[in-house]
Amino acid sequence: MVEETRVTTDDLILPLFLIDGKNQKTEVGSMPGIFRLSIDLMLKEIEECLRLGINVFDVFPAVEDQWKDKTATKSYDPGFFYLKALRQIKKEFPEACIMTDVAMDPYSSDGHDGLVKDGKILNDETLEILGRMALAQAETGIDILGPSDMMDGRVGYIRSVLDENGFTDVSIMSYTAKYASGFYNPFRDALDSAPKFGDKKTYQMNPANRNEALREAHLDEMEGADFLMVKPALAYLDIISLLKDNSSLPIAAYNVSGEYSMIKAAAQKGWLDGERVMKETLLSIKRAGADVILTYFAKEFAALTVSNIR
Ligand code: PBG
Repeated sequence: MVEETRVTTDDLILPLFLIDGKNQKTEVGSMPGIFRLSIDLMLKEIEECLRLGINVFDVFPAVEDQWKDKTATKSYDPGFFYLKALRQIKKEFPEACIMTDVAMDPYSSDGHDGLVKDGKILNDETLEILGRMALAQAETGIDILGPSDMMDGRVGYIRSVLDENGFTDVSIMSYTAKYASGFYNPFRDALDSAPKFGDKKTYQMNPANRNEALREAHLDEMEGADFLMVKPALAYLDIISLLKDNSSLPIAAYNVSGEYSMIKAAAQKGWLDGERVMKETLLSIKRAGADVILTYFAKEFAALTVSNIR
C-alpha cells in the first residue's frame, strides 16, 4: 500500500535489431539473449511481446557495409529493407506502437551520426538528410520518431518536415540529453556502427554537464518534442530527475546496451542475481523520474510479471 514506485510493462519500450533476409537470427556477442532478427522472425517476436504486455518497440537496422555511404542514402530509400519491414510491422500489428531511430550512423560509411567533411561533422547539412530519413520513416506508418543524432536544431527541423507533409500525428521522442558515453559499445557491435575515426564528443554531451541538459531540454521543448530522453540511464539518474522536475513533458530514459551487458555478464558468472538486479535497476530509473524506459530487459521483465500474475 505504501510502496511509492512500481514498474509495469506499460512503462517499457523494447529495442529490436533488424537484419536483411529471411529466417535470420544472430546473437549479439556482447549482449547475451539479444538477437538481430530478419523481418519474418521479428514479426513473431513482436507478437510474443504483445502477448506479454509489451506494446512499444524501437526498431534499429543493422546495415551491411555494401549499403553504407557518406550521405546515408539508404536511410530514405523506400525499397530498403528497414523501411519495408516497418511497413510490414504496422500492417501486421497496427495496435503496436512503433518507434524508429533517426540518425545517420547505421547507414554511414563514416560510422557517424552526421555528415562528415575533412574530419568534421557538418551540423546544418546533416539536418536535410535527417529530414528525408524522418519523412521516409513516417510514410511507413510508424508512430514515434527518435532522433538520436544530437545535431542542433533537428527536432524543429524534423517537426516542420513532418507537419508540411501531413504527418502531424507522428510524435518525436527527442534524445535530449544523450551523453558521449562508454556504455554504447555493445550496441555498436550489434549494428557494426562504430565511428571509423574519432569519437562522438563534438555532438554528444560531456558526461560532466548538468546545466547543459537543461539547455537541451528547453530547446527541444521549444522545437516541438513530445518526449525528452536521457541516455544512458544509470550513471545519469540525477539528469533524469532534473528533467522531470523542470519539464511537464513525459521523460524517457534509455537503459543502454552496456548497462544490460554488465548485468548479464555478472549474472552469468554467478556474481549477481540477474533477475533481482534487473528489477532493482528498472525500479531505480522509474524512481528517479522516468515515465518511459527503453530497455533490452523489457521482454524478460514482462515474462516474469506475467508469470507472477497468472
Ligand atoms: C546512434 C545510437 C546509439 C544508441 C542508440 N542510437 C549509439 C551511439 O550513439 O553510438 C545506443 C543504444 C545503446 O547503447 O543501447 N545514433
